[in-house]
Amino acid sequence: MPQARFLGHAGVQLVHEAHRLIVDPFLTGNPLAAADPGTIEADFVLLTHGHGDHVGDALAIARRTGATIIASYELAMLCAGEGAAVHPMHIGGAHVFPFGRVKLTIAHHGGGYGPDASRYTGPPVGFLVTLGGRTVYHAGDTGLFYDMKLIGQLNTIDLAFLPIGDNFTMGIDDAVKAVEFLRPRRVVPMHFDTFPVVAAEPGEFAARVQGAEVVILRPGEKLDF
Ligand code: NI
Ligand code: MN
Repeated sequence: MPQARFLGHAGVQLVHEAHRLIVDPFLTGNPLAAADPGTIEADFVLLTHGHGDHVGDALAIARRTGATIIASYELAMLCAGEGAAVHPMHIGGAHVFPFGRVKLTIAHHGGGYGPDASRYTGPPVGFLVTLGGRTVYHAGDTGLFYDMKLIGQLNTIDLAFLPIGDNFTMGIDDAVKAVEFLRPRRVVPMHFDTFPVVAAEPGEFAARVQGAEVVILRPGEKLDF
C-alpha cells in the first residue's frame, strides 16, 4: 500500500515498496518543514513549477542523491543546467517510470525561478501519479479551473492534494468546488499557514467538503492510501 507523508507547504513524499518520490521539496526556509534536506532520500523529485517555495531544495537533493527531476520541459532544462538528472515532460503527456505512471495536468498560475522569478520555467503543472494501483493528484499552485471536472471523469483519484491558502492559489471556497469537480476519495489541504498571507483554517475546509474524506495532515504526518 503506498504511503504519503506531508512535508509542509506543498511538499509531499510518496513511498511505495522501494520507490521514493518527493513533490515540491521546499524545506530550507520553510517554517513548517518536516524533513531534513540534507538527509532525505529520493529516486525522483517532481516539481510543479519554478517558484522558490516549490523548487526549494530540489536541486541540492537531486545532486546529492542522484534523483531524477520530473518537470515541464522548460523547468527540467533549467535543472539540468544546474547539474541535476532530469526527465522533461509536458502538459497532457504521461510516462511510465519504474515506480508507476506520471501525467502532467494544467494549472493556472505563474512560473519563474530565482530571487526575482526571472528565469523562465514554462507553465505550471499538476501531477497525476499512479503507483501501487492508487492515483494521487497533486494540483500544484493553481486557481480553480473547470477542467478539474474532466480530470475527475477520466481518473479515479484516491488522494488529492489541493491548495487552500488563497492569495496565490485557490482559497477554501474554490477548493471546496474543486473537490466537487475532482471527486477524489480523500483530499488533503496544503499551501496554507506557511506564511501569514496564506493563513487558512483547514477545519473550515473539512467542514464544507462533501463527497470526499478530508484528511488534515500536519507536517510530518503520514497516510497510507
Ligand atoms: Ni507558485
Ligand atoms: Mn507556492
